[in-house]
Amino acid sequence: MNNHVRIFDTTLRDGEQCPGASMNLREKLEVARQLARLRVDVIEAGFPVISDGDFEAVKTIATKIHGPIIAGLARCLPKDIDAAAAAVKPAGKKARIHVFLGTSKIHREFKFGKAQSEILRLAVEGVQRARKHVKDVEFSPEDASRTELDFLTKIVEAAISAGATTINMPDTVGYATPEQYGHMFAHVIANAKGARNVIFSAHCHNDLGLAAANSLAAVQNGARQVEGTINGIGERAGNVALEEVIMAMQTRADYYKGLRTGIQMREIVKTSRLVSRMCGFLVQRNKAIVGENAFAHGAGIHQDGILKKRETYEIMDPVKIGWGVTELPLTKHSGRHALAIRLKHMGYQLTGAEMEAVFTRFKTIGDKKKFVYDDDLATLVDDRISDVREIWSLDYISVSTGNQTVPTATVRLKKPREGAKGEVIQDACTGDGPVDAALKTIDRITGKRGKLMDYQLRAVTQGKDAIGEVTIKADFGKGRIVTGKGSSTDVIEASARAYLNAVNRALTQK
Ligand code: KIV
Ligand code: ZN
Repeated sequence: MNNHVRIFDTTLRDGEQCPGASMNLREKLEVARQLARLRVDVIEAGFPVISDGDFEAVKTIATKIHGPIIAGLARCLPKDIDAAAAAVKPAGKKARIHVFLGTSKIHREFKFGKAQSEILRLAVEGVQRARKHVKDVEFSPEDASRTELDFLTKIVEAAISAGATTINMPDTVGYATPEQYGHMFAHVIANAKGARNVIFSAHCHNDLGLAAANSLAAVQNGARQVEGTINGIGERAGNVALEEVIMAMQTRADYYKGLRTGIQMREIVKTSRLVSRMCGFLVQRNKAIVGENAFAHGAGIHQDGILKKRETYEIMDPVKIGWGVTELPLTKHSGRHALAIRLKHMGYQLTGAEMEAVFTRFKTIGDKKKFVYDDDLATLVDDRISDVREIWSLDYISVSTGNQTVPTATVRLKKPREGAKGEVIQDACTGDGPVDAALKTIDRITGKRGKLMDYQLRAVTQGKDAIGEVTIKADFGKGRIVTGKGSSTDVIEASARAYLNAVNRALTQK
């Protein structure tokens, strides 16, 4: 059996599906570029039929990203499959259509009200239609882990004879245990006709915290593709964190004998950070592989051991996965050329206008901070990339606060108008604290009321002069949760920028 385990990244589809993680086209493209540098085998770029935005994102990624296979998701419905086909078409030979259909008893009875025979027919027709468009078709019997094994085997066999080239058997609700999930693969591979001619794939959700264990059990039982997301983002408890499965196979090569991925390990940390910034989900400090504390040793005995021999308490070399790769910082004296070279080295491809905007903010930050580190630069670029159309922009903010003062903010916002002079509006408001006062003033000016659902502040680098990056999630009605990001050396200004970013998103998103 081929020992190459393909890595199928669904950060931009299953990951982006979780509330508040949505990314705009520019952000998705940046993530896709980084995934290509990480050398994943497949990028599932979206679900083209669900919105014009998803269609455009898949099409753009299929056009611009070279290397990985580009997949688009579709239900077993003609309109879904045709939309996915049109979106992935620019990828040419690297285009994949991924069709799925619920197969478990609970899905058949309550979602579809259909008998097994009907489900079987729909699956076959879906795969056949997809095969008319592309050679590379993946079929997923959704909720496979709760599907009767006999029926699962039968539908997989039917999908293979209809032309599916990859069979993905998802643990859609994170219900399986490793033994059970592994056994499902062993059984279907042994009993479905044609199984030896296709690639089997694992797709695990983390509701019981078993996603990585389940994925590895699948691989031990014949799966040669693992689907997941960076940092494990995804609906509910998330999808399997790809970096965990990749590093488990790499670190325990002695146990997972001969299995290998084509992943460029040094890109792991960079990818994790980019995804975290782009979708506004901070990585928990103790997260395996990519959390800030993953390689921090607090106990004296451990530190002593590490100094004597790293392997006493470290099972992986952090440098090999991209930790601690620091470059000399830039300063306010660095020019455009130095900045451009550094950004290129960091993997960004910016337009002239984006470069100019980043340079302007770099100079402002350089005046306030002695050194501007790569992480600072990444934040400036991300702010730029995340920039939705600036309906409102921050012109001025001043806040007075103290332990015996009523916090009061004065904010001036600009609303540029094409061809006209535009509007400048200033207002002031008090609040429970300086951030509350600033956000309330923005509400008064924009007339948009957002309910703050989450607020996170992070120092991008170390030191008292570090840039503060604020990520907020706000509900602008009807449960529409929008993420906003902003940064500054002043945390109140960063908060105002983040909130305004969310307001602009809410105003421009369909
Ligand atoms: O979890 C799941 O079942 C899915 C399918 C669409 C593959 O995401
Ligand atoms: Zn899923």
